[in-house]
Formats: sequence, structure tokens, C-alpha cells
Amino acid sequence: KKIAVFASGNGSNFQAIVDAVKAGTLAADICLLVCDKESAYVLQRAEKENIDSFCFVPKSFHDKAAFEQEIVKQLKLRNIEFIVLAGYMRLIGPTLLQEYPEAIVNIHPSLLPNFPGKDAIGQAFDAGVKVTGLSIHYVDAGMDTGPIIAQKEIGVLANDTRDRLQERIQQAEHTTYPEVLQQLFMNEKSIPSH
Ligand code: GRF
Repeated sequence: KKIAVFASGNGSNFQAIVDAVKAGTLAADICLLVCDKESAYVLQRAEKENIDSFCFVPKSFHDKAAFEQEIVKQLKLRNIEFIVLAGYMRLIGPTLLQEYPEAIVNIHPSLLPNFPGKDAIGQAFDAGVKVTGLSIHYVDAGMDTGPIIAQKEIGVLANDTRDRLQERIQQAEHTTYPEVLQQLFMNEKSIPSH
């Protein structure tokens, strides 16, 4: 399956997906990185891995529809079939949702519907929950609201700090995201109409 990864920052999940493809545990062709921040470290990761990137400056476009039209153009040029969000810090608008119905997924570091939005790990830590985790879900127009595909629980330890909790959640993301993508792609293949 030809996929594009969208990211805005460090890109450790992008790297985990790349590594899974290289290891042969994820059958996908990562054709493009889409990034909305020129200074994002993920761009260097893509370059090192010889993966094409399309980086845009949102402010230089009229509105979301305008930059999403450009993104769609870049995706179509490469026959992208599926979009994987990995730390892309923007809501997906109608332009992309209409072009890729049920073909956009996201990973979020909490057990949704708990703690959507920014700094989910800090939100959960401050709320004092005993268990948090991560969610992988289909993307809709809302903020971390689409149908949930998979979740993994991570316990909050008695002597945890926010940083230690973040570290454990992110480690779990790096193994779980490629695994869930692989399952998703395999299941889709077995449906003849796809
Ligand atoms: C991850 O924790 C992911 O769950 C959230 O943003 C973070 C991205 O981290 N959506 P990275 O850029 O993949 O390192």
C-alpha cells in the first residue's frame, strides 16, 4: 500500500514506521512525508531515509482548503492510497477528508475519549489517573474523535514523573503503531471490493 505520513515535529513515530517497513514487518511503501513546519526534525529523518518530503508554510496560503488542495495534488502525483498521521498538529479539513474517506488514521497518547487535544500525557498525569495509554483511530473532522481502531493501556506508576510516563507511552507507540497498520492493511486486502 502506498502511504504518506504527516508529521510536525520530532518524528519518532515516523521513524518507527520506516524501521518496520525496512524490517519487513510492515508491508507498505512510504512514498511521502508531509510536514507543516520547516524546522521539524522529522524532515531530516526523511532525508536520511531517502523519502520524499513535501513541506509547506501554512501561513503562505489563503486558508486550510488552499494548502490541503496542494497536499492532495502532491498525494495524487504519487498515487498515495492511505494517510498516517504521526504528530501532525493540525485538524484535517474537508478537502482531505473527502479525498481520503476512511483512509486517514492517527495516533494519540491517551485512552480516547479521555484527554483529547494537546498535551494528553500531561493532562492525564495532572488528573492523577492510574491508567492511561494510547489510541489509534480513524480521523474525522473533530479533534481526536474518530472511530477507535486499537488502544493500549499503560499504567501510571506510584513514583512516575510526567517525563517517565511520556517515555513509556512513546515506546509503546513505536511498537504498536506499525503493528496496527500492518493488521489494517492486511484486513483491507482480504476485502475483494478494495
Ligand atoms: C506522539 O506522542 C503522538 O501520539 C502524538 O504526537 C506525538 C508525536 O511524536 N500525536 P513524534 O513526533 O512521533 O516523536
